[in-house]
Amino acid sequence: MCGIFGYINFLVDKTRGEIIDTLVDGLEKLEYRGYDSAGISVDGDKKGECIIVKSPGKVEVLKKLVADQKVPRSTVFDNHVGIAHTRWATHGPATVINSHPHRSDPTGEFIIVHNGIISNYNDLRTLLLAKGFQFESDTDTEVIAKLFKHIYDSNLEEGLHPDLNQLTKLVLSELNGSYGLLVKSSHFPGEACGARKGSPLLVGVKTERKLKVDFVDVEYPETETTSGSAAPQNDLGLLPVAQGESNLRTSQSRAFFSEDSIPMPIEFFFASDAASIIKHTKKVLYLQDDDIAHIFDGELHIHRATKKKSDESTTRTIETLEMELNQIMKGPYQHFMQKEIFEQTESTFNTMRGRVDFDNHKITLGGLKSWLPTIRRCRRLIMIACGTSYHSCLATRSIFEELTDIPVSVELASDFLDRKSPVFRDDTIIFVSQSGETADSILALQYCLERGALTVGIVNTVGSSISRQTHCGVHINAGPEIGVASTKAYTSQYIALVMVALSLSNDTISKIERHSEIIDGLKKIPDQIAKVLKLEDSIKSLCKNELKDKKSLLLLGRGFQFATALEGALKIKEITYTHAEGVLAGELKHGVLALVDEQLPIIAFATRDSLFPNVMSAIEQVTARKGKPILVCNEGAKILSQDKVMTTLEVPETVDCLQGLLNVIPVQLISYWLAVDRGINVDFPRNLAKSVTVT
Ligand code: UD1
Ligand code: F6R
Repeated sequence: MCGIFGYINFLVDKTRGEIIDTLVDGLEKLEYRGYDSAGISVDGDKKGECIIVKSPGKVEVLKKLVADQKVPRSTVFDNHVGIAHTRWATHGPATVINSHPHRSDPTGEFIIVHNGIISNYNDLRTLLLAKGFQFESDTDTEVIAKLFKHIYDSNLEEGLHPDLNQLTKLVLSELNGSYGLLVKSSHFPGEACGARKGSPLLVGVKTERKLKVDFVDVEYPETETTSGSAAPQNDLGLLPVAQGESNLRTSQSRAFFSEDSIPMPIEFFFASDAASIIKHTKKVLYLQDDDIAHIFDGELHIHRATKKKSDESTTRTIETLEMELNQIMKGPYQHFMQKEIFEQTESTFNTMRGRVDFDNHKITLGGLKSWLPTIRRCRRLIMIACGTSYHSCLATRSIFEELTDIPVSVELASDFLDRKSPVFRDDTIIFVSQSGETADSILALQYCLERGALTVGIVNTVGSSISRQTHCGVHINAGPEIGVASTKAYTSQYIALVMVALSLSNDTISKIERHSEIIDGLKKIPDQIAKVLKLEDSIKSLCKNELKDKKSLLLLGRGFQFATALEGALKIKEITYTHAEGVLAGELKHGVLALVDEQLPIIAFATRDSLFPNVMSAIEQVTARKGKPILVCNEGAKILSQDKVMTTLEVPETVDCLQGLLNVIPVQLISYWLAVDRGINVDFPRNLAKSVTVT
């Protein structure tokens, strides 16, 4: 989820202030991908001086920091390289020092931003430490910056003068793993190299002049740049540059060769995502794995580290982006909601990333670790939320009770406040919120804080009010949710809450087996979600045909699946403007049954758990009244003959307390496709706001 942005101006005068604004704006356009820190680097006033500003938190915080540090804005550059980054922490927490850009040394001879993971960073770090390098951060990226300096210095000692492209090749030949990266250097002012392997990087080109051709030639080396060739090696096992190679620099890229041979004013942009470039230019070139883009003197050169293979293209096309910003951010999807439904394979994984040790069946929630003993001693747990977030509390309530043996109640924030419910100092209150800004939840939080209870947040938005005001908590790390209808936040909240329940009970011997079963189940969830998403085509057809003109729907669930029924009904109401009701299957016979006839569509959750026989009895009450349910059941379960059901949607089986994570996906898709068929703007349904900041 990290983001890269770079800006290079050549013969176009820009003040430092304008350059910083461009970098910060580029980062803002990447915000939708999710990140937890941000940083930029620009040149200082003295020769070789660099300025790095970086900080955990949002780009907004970075902006303020730039202003607070009074970085001088007026100096004008006619050729300059600025690089910028948003980081999603992997190696080391989100701190200033771990944020990008990273530098080779205190003067910043080489400065790097990097996406991806360098898998051999430990070996490289050990080698570089032995060479006397001192590391500032916990990141894998810092080894790249240090490696640049080490190889540069070693080459100088040998009397060799590699250019920035050659140096980049040498560094890359030592890296294992994946990267999209940018490097700038005080030894090569006005120049930048960008490279990619397994992590996207593109180059934007902006010029008033017409480019001679719409492609850039790929330049191949005479010799391969790999360690272990016949050329002399230094003691890091790195190949010093072959002297003959520097003539590459004199080769001209046809696209940037002006008629009159006079260099032309031009601006280049590097980015991991077209969203940050589109505002400046529509002319972009997508780099391929193992490409190195070298920008200097207003030219863009694409180099390869390896000799040409027969089937490789010798050019990279400069494409014209036809998409608008919104389309880029949505990727191949029609709406953010659809994108977010499909993202759940990733977002659920991100919620668990770095927190679940699947091999040893251990959960570590950094934000809760030191609070667990206090929470375990509490008199009762109260979960408070609104809307979808309330449903994720309902979905996990029983696993909390089962694992922790602490009484748990679930409250709607507004109702809790209306009742002025009693709260005590030995209560633990869990606030669940995607935005962290929902007014009802914030008021309930303040009410509980005033009464001295311990408050825990389960929040998606880092830095939000609930995240800041709670004593401790867990960020669900689902990435920004843009569609008004909450989808991926629900599944991530659900997983985060299950992880909290597991953490609270991890010292209970009698629960070990159940723990392992749930953790094994969690491991499979992202892949199982991918399987459920394959139902999209049959759901599309169901919505187009059988559900086309329906004015009302019932959703039946019991036990763990009651929450799924409520959440499904809410999704259908809010984006299709159709009445839908989630009903506890056991309550059917107490009144709701009167609604059932052959017309009313009923979605019934009949996946296998201890309450399956009870759900079946409710379904039989429906079919006996000529109702034809849409069954959500486990794969291969032949519950009812085809003539008795409208359709069957089969989902993989998982542990009972996790089944709701899979069962909710078909209803998310049903609500989505019903809304699309009815011509509703799915991302912005009427009367609703993404974040409800009024009571
Ligand atoms: C933290 C970092 C993460 C990094 C990881 C590595 C942040 C936001 N998270 O994640 O980027 O990869 O360390 O060790 O910097 N909190 C609340 N209320 C809430 C949510 C969270 O008070 O509603 C607090 C937590 O108690 C904790 C902090 O915010 O002190 C960060 O929480 P979380 O992101 O969940 O912690 P880690 O998973 O450890
Ligand atoms: C439904 C939906 C709302 C929110 C509710 C709480 O799709 O989005 O019901 O779940 O307004 O919002 P958060 O979770 O931001 O507190």
